[in-house]
Amino acid sequence: MSPKTNNFYITTPIYYVNDRPHIGHAYTSVACDVLARFKRLSGVNVKFLTGTDEHGQKVEKSAAAQGITPQAMADANSQAFRDMAAQMNISNDDFIRTTEPRHIKSAQALWKKMVEKGHIYLGAYSGWYAVRDEAYYQESELVNGKAPTGADVEWVEEPSYFFDLSKWQDKLLAYYEANPHFIMPESRRNETISFVKGGLKDLSISRTTFSWGIPVPGDENDKGTTASLHERGQHIMYVWLDALANYLSALGYPDMQGDFWPADLHMVGKDIIRFHAVYWPAFLMAADLPVPKQVFAHGWWTIEGEKMSKSLGNAIAPADLVAEFGLDQTRWFLMREVPFGNDGNFSRERMITVINSELANNIGNLCQRTLSMIAKNCDGKVPEGNPEVGKQLQELCYGNLKIISGQMDNKLFHQALQLIVSIGSTANEFIDAEAPWGLKKTDPKRMEAVLYTLAEAIRCIGIYLQAIIPDSAAKILDQLAVPPAERGFAYLAPQFALKPGAPLPPPSGVFPRVGG
Ligand code: MSP
Repeated sequence: MSPKTNNFYITTPIYYVNDRPHIGHAYTSVACDVLARFKRLSGVNVKFLTGTDEHGQKVEKSAAAQGITPQAMADANSQAFRDMAAQMNISNDDFIRTTEPRHIKSAQALWKKMVEKGHIYLGAYSGWYAVRDEAYYQESELVNGKAPTGADVEWVEEPSYFFDLSKWQDKLLAYYEANPHFIMPESRRNETISFVKGGLKDLSISRTTFSWGIPVPGDENDKGTTASLHERGQHIMYVWLDALANYLSALGYPDMQGDFWPADLHMVGKDIIRFHAVYWPAFLMAADLPVPKQVFAHGWWTIEGEKMSKSLGNAIAPADLVAEFGLDQTRWFLMREVPFGNDGNFSRERMITVINSELANNIGNLCQRTLSMIAKNCDGKVPEGNPEVGKQLQELCYGNLKIISGQMDNKLFHQALQLIVSIGSTANEFIDAEAPWGLKKTDPKRMEAVLYTLAEAIRCIGIYLQAIIPDSAAKILDQLAVPPAERGFAYLAPQFALKPGAPLPPPSGVFPRVGG
């Protein structure tokens, strides 16, 4: 975050429209959403971008295989990703499509800038290309005749514009050195540094053998004829240059608005780190633009131990999980199950266990017990507190903000979630130890104080939870009648604690048990 502007620009990768959304995509988007919401609750001015990557050979080929135009495929699947954002409650401020005029204009402006600075030249490419990865590979990188990712490769020979990537090796290494958190986690940083140290070749950044892409501006074959781009040999931009430019086009490049560049965080999967941490900073330096502050690569999900793939037909649609387990339950599981950055395995059994033990039995039960006792025994009003009762719990609630903020900044989502749950555990232990149901007759004052401390702990837990499970958090805070304007992290302090005597609505359960 820029201390000058208090702005924070966070992006998801833009999703290829040859595929339907699955939980791998939802994962990247939910992680960004949690961070975006956390920053907003901290008082930061956030811009959160997502969208779809619609050009390239992969999309063109998939559309042809289905007998539809690439535009029709892009329209349908871009909408599916927009729907995924809504289904997962993603709070993006913008949704960019690379087929939109605003993007085409920006991508071409970026190209022109790189030409103007002398970093693009015309040549001819001959080498291997993997359509599935939309990536060039060197002979030495192939494994048993395939890309290192397992994708099929094809031999390509065509005229091509090149970007002088080989000249940026030292500058990139110097940038990584000076900005140790630019590539995270550490393992990805090391992997990228050794790739760059291994030597960079100039990068082919245009194609002529198909036409589903952005025309290269000023290309000599761009004669304005009515023949197809492909027939007249028009160069179209390499889809990764086109796609990466989305992060700028959403800000209006070349007339950028709002003081959001450089981006604070590009969240990506580990498969696309090279594009974001090598090519992208080199393109930006070549265009005289500042380099993003961080690229964070998360791991990959397998499904019940197997790779998620179209051919295995085991991809899980986020909407199906939401329908079965609930939206917030799904968001919680995705962020809680795997230490962020590691690979993880999706298992229904684990999902049921995590939801039931942490949401239903822990936080849900805490709310249920406390709020129904208040409704029955305190006339449905916030009871009278006593600062001496449950002191340790009170301090835990307010004091954890700093720790959780640090965990969020380091993308340690699983730890942050665990810490919030641990406040719930402490509160549940407190209620068991105090047994307020027994105090009703023996010491009603203490019963009130115990319930007050618990209700206040629930208020704090609810405020923290807003970043992760916003709907359920809102339900919790509504039950405590916390005004919507008083739900930011600034209100995690004793002076904003619940007011005794304030009337509360009748309680209702927040987290049902799942899995029968
Ligand atoms: N279009 C490119 C990104 C361009 S960004 C300028 C792309 N798209 S993608 O749709 O294939 O992947 C988008 C994101 O989903 C990537 O971050 C990728 O890592 C993530 N995932 C795809 N499958 C995944 C899993 N099985 N598990 C976790 N994340 C996965 O790449």
